[in-house]
Amino acid sequence: MSQITVTGGKPLKGRVQLKGAKNLVTKAMVAALLGDSPSILKDVPQISDVEVVKNLLTLHGVKIEFGNDGVMHLDPTNVKSAHMVDIDAHAGSSRIPILFCGPLLHQLGEAFIPDLGGCHIGDRPIDFHLEVLRNFGAVIEKQPNGIRISAPEGLKGAKVSLPYPSVGATEQVLLAATRAEGITELSGAAIEPEIMDLIAILQKMGAIISVDTDRVIRIEGVPHLSGYTHRALFDRNEAASWAAAALATQGDIFCEGARQPEMMTFLNVFRKVGGAFEIHDDGIRFYHPGGELHPVVIETDVHPGFMTDWQQPLVVALTQAKGLSIIHETVYENRFGFTDALVQMGANIQIYRECLGGTPCRFGQRNFYHSAVISGPTPLKAAEIRVPDLRGGFSHMVAALAAEGTSLVTNVQLISRGYEHFLQKLTDLGADFTYTE
Ligand code: EPZ
Repeated sequence: MSQITVTGGKPLKGRVQLKGAKNLVTKAMVAALLGDSPSILKDVPQISDVEVVKNLLTLHGVKIEFGNDGVMHLDPTNVKSAHMVDIDAHAGSSRIPILFCGPLLHQLGEAFIPDLGGCHIGDRPIDFHLEVLRNFGAVIEKQPNGIRISAPEGLKGAKVSLPYPSVGATEQVLLAATRAEGITELSGAAIEPEIMDLIAILQKMGAIISVDTDRVIRIEGVPHLSGYTHRALFDRNEAASWAAAALATQGDIFCEGARQPEMMTFLNVFRKVGGAFEIHDDGIRFYHPGGELHPVVIETDVHPGFMTDWQQPLVVALTQAKGLSIIHETVYENRFGFTDALVQMGANIQIYRECLGGTPCRFGQRNFYHSAVISGPTPLKAAEIRVPDLRGGFSHMVAALAAEGTSLVTNVQLISRGYEHFLQKLTDLGADFTYTE
């Protein structure tokens, strides 16, 4: 288990280079499975989620070359079934394997998906995914260590309606429908920029997909897709994380590769809290302009709302704002576990079962602690912290960097699931820490 001893109180200042979004790149890699010729994906970050998907694709016969330049070549021309034991070795390491279903059913007629991993921020069921696949004609068999899926008569286009605009289930539909026979109409779709980028990739491959108003996506199935060449959309979650780190440590961070259009909702909130930013052609500069930070009321939501992945790092900055901030988490029912460590460090945060934003959400009256009230400013003091999940872990690191004294942060390898060269970036930003494997 890797750990960091970090001495806080030093503003983070400098530049970080963003690569492609974790939540797009991994799906783009799976999309390459649908092609009958090689694909080239650019700006691929070196993170462990990419490694997991790379290993799973390799097990299925995809030839992958991935250099230090961030360019990945994926050759799916010899796709084959993988041994169950080998697939099973990846159980619990990521949520992406569930997206292999459609492409594997098209290529091989069957798929075995191991038990899923990912951050423990709620139940994270896969019922929408399975229902979607059944709509396309897939037969699903639950097994002790995963699920076996087959499509004896091939996948057929279908009318699908999602009960909630799930990112993963929307991607499931896209990856299953592009080569299914006939037309698919998906209503209640997620429309995150990462999904739009996946649609752009599929269109490059030969798919016919239109995004209509009101979360409706129409896909006309085609029998074959070719490979693609694509530069991945930048990681806006990473940009928001470093922006919050700049604010919490009174620093100044230039996020190279960040773009305004995909970050507008975040930028509005960042400004309301008292942060400053400058939009440049090659990135966005986020900084603390001096003076007090202001409290805010935020409800996390699906795009174009304020992303759930942005709240954890921002909460650390809000502990330094003068007054009461409220965050109503409406995407995941259990995403405030990370606040315990912040309270231990001196933050004043209370979590509630009630919907404390303006809108009642599907978690209200269901015993989920999904609203948080943060009262500030409270100085943060050093502590011993164990990283619980990806974004929560990043926020703990930020808290340790903002706190007075020397903190011990363990389990930090979890952060490398989603943040490329995390330790190097901290060094470049002037953080004072030592790392032990
Ligand atoms: C993606 O998760 C991201 N992960 C998450 O990022 C992100 O927080 C989330 O989308 C929302 O933007 C990846 O892209 C790998 P969902 P996903 O399906 O697709 C419920 C990060 O830190 N649901 O949109 O798994 C679910 O429980 C991570 O980078 C069902 O009930 O999210 C949740 O409450 C964490 N049944 C809501 O929908 C299902 O079958 C939204 O989940 C599927 C989802």
